[in-house]
Amino acid sequence: KTALVLNGPNLNLLGMREPQVYGTKTLADVEQICAQACAAHGLVLDFRQSNHEGVLVDWIHEAGRMQAAGTLAGVVLNAGAYTHTSVALHDAIKGTGVPAVELHISNVHVREAFRHHSYIAPAARAVLCGFGVQGYALAIAGLLDW
Ligand code: DQA
Repeated sequence: KTALVLNGPNLNLLGMREPQVYGTKTLADVEQICAQACAAHGLVLDFRQSNHEGVLVDWIHEAGRMQAAGTLAGVVLNAGAYTHTSVALHDAIKGTGVPAVELHISNVHVREAFRHHSYIAPAARAVLCGFGVQGYALAIAGLLDW
């Protein structure tokens, strides 16, 4: 089955973006971490990034079709700033019924107040934040029991 790992806006800047918050690993490094975790657990990795909300919505719809076909292990979603703004992503997860982990590299709860609210969390099956980029491997391992 496939682990669909979706990354939202500005995550293409990982490595150079606020390294004191997000670390120095790049998105390509994160993809490697995910590839290793998937290989260890017998999952197929599908790893994507977009800065566009509607593209992320379309990818969640695609996940819904994968689930209907029985090929989806689950979605790991780091929606970036859309976490805190996007009713559309909330509705996409609810509307498709895909099992999703909301993931953040940083611990959003020790940061600015505007990062404390998530539109994704009420639609997600699990939420994981603050483990740095290794959180991606933890989230992928978490898909196995679903
Ligand atoms: C983030 C946290 C968000 O608040 C922020 O907008 C991001 C990254 C994280 O991975 O820690 O872009 O999702």
